[in-house]
Amino acid sequence: MTFLRIDPRLVERLRDALHVVIFTGAGMSAESGVPTFRDRMTGLWARHDPQDIATPEAFRRNPQLVWDWHVHLAESVRAATPNAGHRAIAALQDLVQQVTVITQNIDGLHARAGSREIIELHGNLLRLRGFRDDDGRQEGLRLARPPRPCPLCGARCAPPGAWNPDPGLSLAGFGLAAGPVPRCPKCGARLRPDVVWFNEMLDPDLLDQAWAAMENCDAVLCVGASLEVEPAASLPFRALECGHAVIEINPAPTALSALADASVRGGAASALPRLVESVWGSAQGPGE
Ligand code: APR
Repeated sequence: MTFLRIDPRLVERLRDALHVVIFTGAGMSAESGVPTFRDRMTGLWARHDPQDIATPEAFRRNPQLVWDWHVHLAESVRAATPNAGHRAIAALQDLVQQVTVITQNIDGLHARAGSREIIELHGNLLRLRGFRDDDGRQEGLRLARPPRPCPLCGARCAPPGAWNPDPGLSLAGFGLAAGPVPRCPKCGARLRPDVVWFNEMLDPDLLDQAWAAMENCDAVLCVGASLEVEPAASLPFRALECGHAVIEINPAPTALSALADASVRGGAASALPRLVESVWGSAQGPGE
Protein backbone atom coordinates (compact mmCIF):
# COMPACT_ATOMS: atom_id res chain seq x y z
CA MET A 1 0.00 0.00 0.00
CA THR A 2 1.38 3.42 -0.93
CA PHE A 3 1.21 5.97 1.81
CA LEU A 4 -0.55 9.30 1.33
CA ARG A 5 1.58 12.41 1.49
CA ILE A 6 0.01 14.57 4.19
CA ASP A 7 1.41 17.53 6.06
CA PRO A 8 3.08 16.07 9.20
CA ARG A 9 1.33 18.68 11.39
CA LEU A 10 -2.03 17.46 10.08
CA VAL A 11 -1.01 13.85 10.70
CA GLU A 12 -0.20 14.86 14.26
CA ARG A 13 -3.62 16.50 14.72
CA LEU A 14 -5.35 13.40 13.39
CA ARG A 15 -3.32 11.08 15.62
CA ASP A 16 -4.20 13.19 18.63
CA ALA A 17 -7.92 13.19 17.79
CA LEU A 18 -10.09 11.48 20.39
CA HIS A 19 -13.29 11.78 18.37
CA VAL A 20 -13.28 11.42 14.57
CA VAL A 21 -16.41 11.97 12.47
CA ILE A 22 -16.70 10.35 9.05
CA PHE A 23 -19.23 12.14 6.86
CA THR A 24 -20.18 10.14 3.77
CA GLY A 25 -22.17 10.57 0.56
CA ALA A 26 -23.02 8.39 -2.40
CA GLY A 27 -19.40 8.25 -3.63
CA MET A 28 -18.56 6.16 -0.53
CA SER A 29 -20.52 3.24 -1.98
CA ALA A 30 -19.80 3.82 -5.68
CA GLU A 31 -17.06 1.17 -5.70
CA SER A 32 -19.45 -1.26 -3.98
CA GLY A 33 -21.70 -0.97 -7.03
CA VAL A 34 -24.40 1.27 -5.57
CA PRO A 35 -25.04 4.01 -8.13
CA THR A 36 -24.69 7.66 -7.08
CA PHE A 37 -27.86 9.70 -7.44
CA ARG A 38 -26.95 10.90 -10.93
CA ASP A 39 -26.13 7.34 -11.98
CA ARG A 40 -29.49 6.13 -10.66
CA MET A 41 -31.24 8.17 -13.33
CA THR A 42 -29.83 6.16 -16.24
CA GLY A 43 -31.23 3.42 -18.49
CA LEU A 44 -34.96 2.92 -18.12
CA TRP A 45 -35.14 5.76 -15.61
CA ALA A 46 -33.37 8.40 -17.70
CA ARG A 47 -36.66 9.86 -18.89
CA HIS A 48 -37.97 10.41 -15.35
CA ASP A 49 -37.36 13.53 -13.35
CA PRO A 50 -36.20 12.84 -9.73
CA GLN A 51 -39.29 14.82 -8.69
CA ASP A 52 -41.39 12.02 -10.26
CA ILE A 53 -39.80 9.21 -8.31
CA ALA A 54 -38.32 10.46 -5.05
CA THR A 55 -40.89 12.81 -3.52
CA PRO A 56 -44.01 12.27 -1.38
CA GLU A 57 -46.04 14.04 -4.08
CA ALA A 58 -44.84 11.47 -6.63
CA PHE A 59 -45.81 8.62 -4.29
CA ARG A 60 -49.23 10.16 -3.78
CA ARG A 61 -49.64 10.54 -7.56
CA ASN A 62 -48.13 7.26 -8.74
CA PRO A 63 -47.09 4.98 -5.85
CA GLN A 64 -46.30 2.06 -8.14
CA LEU A 65 -43.75 4.03 -10.22
CA VAL A 66 -42.01 5.26 -7.07
CA TRP A 67 -42.05 1.75 -5.56
CA ASP A 68 -40.64 0.20 -8.74
CA TRP A 69 -37.73 2.68 -8.85
CA HIS A 70 -36.84 1.89 -5.23
CA VAL A 71 -37.06 -1.85 -5.88
CA HIS A 72 -34.63 -1.32 -8.77
CA LEU A 73 -32.25 0.57 -6.45
CA ALA A 74 -32.67 -2.04 -3.71
CA GLU A 75 -31.44 -4.70 -6.13
CA SER A 76 -28.05 -2.97 -6.39
CA VAL A 77 -27.96 -2.42 -2.62
CA ARG A 78 -28.68 -6.10 -1.91
CA ALA A 79 -26.01 -7.16 -4.40
CA ALA A 80 -23.44 -4.76 -2.92
CA THR A 81 -20.88 -5.55 -0.26
CA PRO A 82 -18.90 -3.05 1.81
CA ASN A 83 -15.71 -1.92 0.08
CA ALA A 84 -12.22 -1.42 1.53
CA GLY A 85 -13.19 2.16 2.43
CA HIS A 86 -16.14 1.04 4.59
CA ARG A 87 -13.86 -1.51 6.24
CA ALA A 88 -11.11 1.07 6.90
CA ILE A 89 -13.68 3.25 8.69
CA ALA A 90 -14.76 0.29 10.82
CA ALA A 91 -11.10 -0.48 11.58
CA LEU A 92 -10.64 3.07 12.86
CA GLN A 93 -12.82 2.15 15.84
CA ASP A 94 -9.87 0.17 17.25
CA LEU A 95 -7.50 3.09 16.75
CA VAL A 96 -9.49 6.13 17.90
CA GLN A 97 -11.48 6.58 21.11
CA GLN A 98 -14.73 7.55 19.36
CA VAL A 99 -15.71 7.25 15.70
CA THR A 100 -19.07 8.60 14.52
CA VAL A 101 -20.27 7.89 11.00
CA ILE A 102 -22.73 10.44 9.62
CA THR A 103 -24.03 9.24 6.30
CA GLN A 104 -26.39 10.46 3.62
CA ASN A 105 -26.42 6.94 2.21
CA ILE A 106 -29.44 4.69 2.54
CA ASP A 107 -27.66 1.43 1.72
CA GLY A 108 -26.71 0.26 5.22
CA LEU A 109 -23.15 -0.64 4.12
CA HIS A 110 -21.43 1.09 7.05
CA ALA A 111 -23.27 -1.17 9.50
CA ARG A 112 -22.50 -4.22 7.39
CA ALA A 113 -18.80 -3.30 7.48
CA GLY A 114 -18.88 -3.20 11.29
CA SER A 115 -19.25 0.50 12.12
CA ARG A 116 -21.23 0.90 15.33
CA GLU A 117 -22.07 4.57 15.83
CA ILE A 118 -23.95 5.55 12.68
CA ILE A 119 -26.31 8.43 12.00
CA GLU A 120 -28.30 7.64 8.84
CA LEU A 121 -29.47 11.14 7.97
CA HIS A 122 -31.49 10.08 4.94
CA GLY A 123 -32.91 6.85 6.36
CA ASN A 124 -32.51 3.27 5.19
CA LEU A 125 -33.78 1.90 1.91
CA LEU A 126 -34.43 -1.62 3.16
CA ARG A 127 -36.60 -0.50 6.09
CA LEU A 128 -40.30 0.20 5.45
CA ARG A 129 -42.83 2.40 7.18
CA GLY A 130 -46.36 3.53 6.51
CA PHE A 131 -46.95 6.40 4.10
CA ARG A 132 -48.56 9.24 6.05
CA ASP A 133 -51.17 11.53 4.59
CA ASP A 134 -49.06 14.48 5.75
CA ASP A 135 -45.76 13.19 4.28
CA GLY A 136 -44.16 16.10 2.46
CA ARG A 137 -46.86 18.57 3.48
CA GLN A 138 -44.99 21.12 5.56
CA GLU A 139 -48.15 22.49 7.13
CA GLY A 140 -49.32 19.04 8.26
CA LEU A 141 -52.84 17.74 8.08
CA ARG A 142 -55.58 20.30 8.54
CA LEU A 143 -57.88 18.21 10.66
CA ALA A 144 -59.87 19.12 13.73
CA ARG A 145 -58.40 16.13 15.57
CA PRO A 146 -55.02 14.86 14.27
CA PRO A 147 -55.17 11.12 13.58
CA ARG A 148 -53.30 8.82 15.95
CA PRO A 149 -50.35 6.91 14.47
CA CYS A 150 -50.88 3.26 13.59
CA PRO A 151 -49.05 1.22 16.26
CA LEU A 152 -47.58 -1.07 13.61
CA CYS A 153 -46.34 1.16 10.79
CA GLY A 154 -46.48 4.64 12.33
CA ALA A 155 -48.70 6.04 9.56
CA ARG A 156 -51.19 8.73 10.52
CA CYS A 157 -53.95 8.05 8.11
CA ALA A 158 -56.49 5.53 9.33
CA PRO A 159 -59.17 5.96 11.96
CA PRO A 160 -58.41 3.77 15.01
CA GLY A 161 -61.49 1.69 14.27
CA ALA A 162 -59.84 0.37 11.12
CA TRP A 163 -56.95 -1.17 13.03
CA ASN A 164 -56.83 -4.90 13.07
CA PRO A 165 -56.16 -5.82 16.71
CA ASP A 166 -54.09 -8.97 15.92
CA PRO A 167 -50.98 -8.47 18.13
CA GLY A 168 -48.94 -11.03 16.17
CA LEU A 169 -48.70 -8.79 13.12
CA SER A 170 -45.36 -7.32 12.15
CA LEU A 171 -43.84 -5.49 9.21
CA ALA A 172 -40.84 -7.84 9.26
CA GLY A 173 -42.15 -9.97 6.42
CA PHE A 174 -42.47 -6.99 4.10
CA GLY A 175 -39.57 -5.82 2.00
CA LEU A 176 -38.87 -3.83 -1.12
CA ALA A 177 -39.84 -6.43 -3.70
CA ALA A 178 -41.26 -6.37 -7.20
CA GLY A 179 -45.04 -6.37 -7.30
CA PRO A 180 -47.85 -4.18 -6.07
CA VAL A 181 -47.11 -1.65 -3.31
CA PRO A 182 -47.84 -3.51 -0.06
CA ARG A 183 -50.11 -2.13 2.63
CA CYS A 184 -49.80 -2.18 6.39
CA PRO A 185 -51.77 -5.21 7.58
CA LYS A 186 -53.00 -3.25 10.57
CA CYS A 187 -54.21 0.11 9.25
CA GLY A 188 -54.09 -0.38 5.50
CA ALA A 189 -51.65 2.48 4.79
CA ARG A 190 -49.38 1.97 1.81
CA LEU A 191 -45.84 1.02 2.84
CA ARG A 192 -42.89 3.07 1.62
CA PRO A 193 -39.12 2.89 2.09
CA ASP A 194 -38.03 4.68 5.28
CA VAL A 195 -35.87 7.21 3.43
CA VAL A 196 -35.92 11.00 3.20
CA TRP A 197 -37.22 12.04 -0.20
CA PHE A 198 -36.86 15.46 -1.80
CA ASN A 199 -39.31 17.95 -0.19
CA GLU A 200 -39.17 16.04 3.12
CA MET A 201 -37.66 17.10 6.42
CA LEU A 202 -34.81 15.19 8.03
CA ASP A 203 -35.50 13.70 11.45
CA PRO A 204 -34.70 16.71 13.70
CA ASP A 205 -33.22 14.49 16.44
CA LEU A 206 -30.77 12.89 13.99
CA LEU A 207 -29.86 16.28 12.56
CA ASP A 208 -29.21 17.61 16.09
CA GLN A 209 -27.01 14.60 16.85
CA ALA A 210 -25.07 15.13 13.61
CA TRP A 211 -24.66 18.85 14.31
CA ALA A 212 -23.44 18.12 17.86
CA ALA A 213 -20.94 15.54 16.58
CA MET A 214 -19.51 18.07 14.10
CA GLU A 215 -19.14 20.64 16.88
CA ASN A 216 -17.69 18.33 19.52
CA CYS A 217 -15.33 16.14 17.49
CA ASP A 218 -11.64 16.74 16.79
CA ALA A 219 -11.45 15.78 13.11
CA VAL A 220 -13.72 15.06 10.15
CA LEU A 221 -13.16 12.93 7.06
CA CYS A 222 -15.63 13.94 4.36
CA VAL A 223 -15.91 11.14 1.79
CA GLY A 224 -17.75 10.97 -1.55
CA ALA A 225 -20.21 13.78 -0.89
CA SER A 226 -21.02 16.40 -3.52
CA LEU A 227 -22.23 18.75 -0.74
CA GLU A 228 -25.03 20.08 -2.89
CA VAL A 229 -28.05 18.96 -0.86
CA GLU A 230 -28.96 20.81 2.34
CA PRO A 231 -29.12 20.58 5.27
CA ALA A 232 -26.53 17.77 5.28
CA ALA A 233 -24.18 19.78 3.06
CA SER A 234 -23.58 22.36 5.81
CA LEU A 235 -22.35 19.83 8.37
CA PRO A 236 -18.65 19.61 7.37
CA PHE A 237 -18.50 23.41 7.14
CA ARG A 238 -19.66 23.60 10.77
CA ALA A 239 -16.64 21.49 11.77
CA LEU A 240 -14.38 23.90 9.88
CA GLU A 241 -15.96 26.86 11.69
CA CYS A 242 -15.25 25.11 14.98
CA GLY A 243 -11.58 24.82 14.03
CA HIS A 244 -11.48 21.02 13.70
CA ALA A 245 -9.25 19.28 11.16
CA VAL A 246 -11.25 18.49 7.99
CA ILE A 247 -10.01 16.18 5.25
CA GLU A 248 -11.91 15.52 2.05
CA ILE A 249 -11.72 12.38 -0.07
CA ASN A 250 -13.37 12.73 -3.47
CA PRO A 251 -12.17 12.24 -7.05
CA ALA A 252 -13.84 15.55 -7.98
CA PRO A 253 -13.55 18.94 -6.29
CA THR A 254 -16.42 20.29 -4.18
CA ALA A 255 -17.17 23.54 -2.34
CA LEU A 256 -15.21 22.12 0.61
CA SER A 257 -12.00 21.39 -1.33
CA ALA A 258 -10.39 24.81 -1.09
CA LEU A 259 -11.26 25.19 2.62
CA ALA A 260 -10.37 21.72 3.92
CA ASP A 261 -7.03 21.07 5.62
CA ALA A 262 -6.35 18.47 2.94
CA SER A 263 -8.19 17.34 -0.16
CA VAL A 264 -7.37 13.86 -1.37
CA ARG A 265 -8.31 13.24 -5.00
CA GLY A 266 -9.19 9.58 -5.15
CA GLY A 267 -11.86 6.96 -4.72
CA ALA A 268 -13.00 5.98 -1.23
CA ALA A 269 -12.02 2.30 -1.55
CA SER A 270 -8.38 3.07 -2.25
CA ALA A 271 -7.79 6.45 -0.57
CA LEU A 272 -9.44 5.67 2.80
CA PRO A 273 -7.34 2.59 3.67
CA ARG A 274 -4.23 4.53 2.60
CA LEU A 275 -5.19 7.48 4.78
CA VAL A 276 -5.92 5.29 7.82
CA GLU A 277 -2.69 3.36 7.27
CA SER A 278 -0.65 6.55 6.77
CA VAL A 279 -2.00 8.28 9.87
CA TRP A 280 -2.94 5.53 12.33
CA GLY A 281 -0.88 2.65 11.02
CA SER A 282 -3.55 0.00 10.44
CA ALA A 283 -6.61 -0.40 8.24
CA GLN A 284 -7.70 -3.97 8.72
CA GLY A 285 -11.41 -3.90 9.47
CA PRO A 286 -13.74 -6.60 10.79
CA GLY A 287 -15.65 -6.62 7.46
CA GLU A 288 -18.51 -8.90 6.55
N1 APR B 1 -15.08 7.65 -4.11
C1 APR B 1 -15.38 8.83 -3.50
N2 APR B 1 -16.20 9.74 -4.04
C2 APR B 1 -16.75 9.46 -5.24
C3 APR B 1 -16.49 8.26 -5.94
C4 APR B 1 -15.61 7.33 -5.32
N3 APR B 1 -15.29 6.16 -5.90
N4 APR B 1 -17.20 8.28 -7.10
C5 APR B 1 -17.87 9.45 -7.12
N5 APR B 1 -17.61 10.17 -6.00
C6 APR B 1 -18.13 11.47 -5.61
C7 APR B 1 -18.53 12.39 -6.73
O1 APR B 1 -17.42 13.14 -7.20
C8 APR B 1 -19.58 13.28 -6.06
O2 APR B 1 -18.97 14.38 -5.40
O3 APR B 1 -19.33 11.23 -4.90
C9 APR B 1 -20.20 12.36 -5.00
C10 APR B 1 -21.58 11.85 -5.35
O4 APR B 1 -22.46 12.93 -5.40
P1 APR B 1 -24.06 12.75 -5.28
O5 APR B 1 -24.53 11.70 -6.22
O6 APR B 1 -24.63 14.13 -5.37
O7 APR B 1 -24.24 12.13 -3.84
P2 APR B 1 -24.43 12.83 -2.43
O8 APR B 1 -23.44 13.91 -2.20
O9 APR B 1 -24.50 11.71 -1.44
O10 APR B 1 -25.87 13.46 -2.58
C11 APR B 1 -26.54 13.92 -1.45
O11 APR B 1 -28.65 14.03 -2.59
O12 APR B 1 -29.38 12.67 -4.22
C12 APR B 1 -29.68 13.15 -2.98
O13 APR B 1 -30.62 12.27 -1.01
C13 APR B 1 -29.69 11.99 -2.01
O14 APR B 1 -28.26 11.47 -0.18
C14 APR B 1 -28.28 12.03 -1.46
C15 APR B 1 -27.99 13.52 -1.45
